Amino acid sequence: MALKDSYTLPAAADMHVHLRNAPGPIASLVTPTIRRAGIDTVFVMPNLAPRPVVSVAEALAYKHALQQLDPAVEYLMSLYLHESITPDVIREAKRAGIKGVKAYPRGATTNSQWGVVSFDPFHEVLKTMEEEGVVLNLHGEVPSSAADGVTVMNAESRFLPVLKGLVDKYPKLKIVLEHCTTADAVEAVRALSDNVVGTITAHHLSLLVDDWSANVHHYCKPSAKSPEDRRALLNAVVTSNGKFFLGTDSAPHDITSKKGKGNTAAGVFTQPYALGYVLTALEEGLGRGDISPEAVTDDALAGFLSGYGRRFYGLAPATQQIRLTRNGARIDESLRGDDGVEVVPFRAGEQTWGVEWL
Ligand code: NCD
Ligand code: ZN
Repeated sequence: MALKDSYTLPAAADMHVHLRNAPGPIASLVTPTIRRAGIDTVFVMPNLAPRPVVSVAEALAYKHALQQLDPAVEYLMSLYLHESITPDVIREAKRAGIKGVKAYPRGATTNSQWGVVSFDPFHEVLKTMEEEGVVLNLHGEVPSSAADGVTVMNAESRFLPVLKGLVDKYPKLKIVLEHCTTADAVEAVRALSDNVVGTITAHHLSLLVDDWSANVHHYCKPSAKSPEDRRALLNAVVTSNGKFFLGTDSAPHDITSKKGKGNTAAGVFTQPYALGYVLTALEEGLGRGDISPEAVTDDALAGFLSGYGRRFYGLAPATQQIRLTRNGARIDESLRGDDGVEVVPFRAGEQTWGVEWL
């Protein structure tokens, strides 16, 4: 069971990326790979260190710096949910074109140390977001806690009651459950109203727990889970109907943070080959019988990779097209940049799909 050898699709939109501080050596290295991947629009995460993006001025300065690196990409900016965000900041953000506010449960992932402990103190902020149509982007995990029986394996499922509580309290709030990794999360998003959607990464369509337990470059939060979960994600991609769209969560870390003396940094770097990874994972899924061949249509791919995310964020459809060709590219062993940075891409050294702009 195979995909076609080539697909002509609208330019893709990647609604969850980490580009790191700009100016900075990692941003300089990875930002130019966005368009190379066939992507013209990205939703940029605000979890910078040593200071997250918590004001409109900082978000706009960050956007400006990214535009210096590649002016041809549309950068959708976000703020980091933090006590310094007030209803006035939300209104100002809306006027400035900032699309979302990302909530990181404190302790759940990279640079979440300034994150949320409870949503209660943010009641007025969330109400204002609901009124203004500013999106709430959720890192959907509770932090690990041995006392509460929470590990990386059930951290997302344990978060779902929090998601449902937010939907009950703010029924019109636009919410993205970012990087869904479980069948439970897919089911929860499907069951909730149209203003609640999920993003799905490229790497979670192929990785399982056994892969990241053996390889630091496969380790991320939320972590990859079981074959049943992976099957649910693959099916969510091809039967999305607008409920799920691409957010790669491409998360570059210097190799020293991946393989240094301390704990390995969470994050899989997928930006330059994002679409190829999705196609390869779908093909492997077909081979296992996880998804049915009739479901993998051009329309399903165009919706998941491009149209549904743009529609959710109120953008126009893509104007350019791309062609993806089987075995048209080989994944770099690593990307090296200024100041000695080195970032290793997912599936380094393997053949993948080539990308051409039409
Ligand atoms: C992300 C990062 O490195 O910033 N890491 C990850 O494992 N996905 C943060 C995040 O999205 O959780
Ligand atoms: Zn992320």
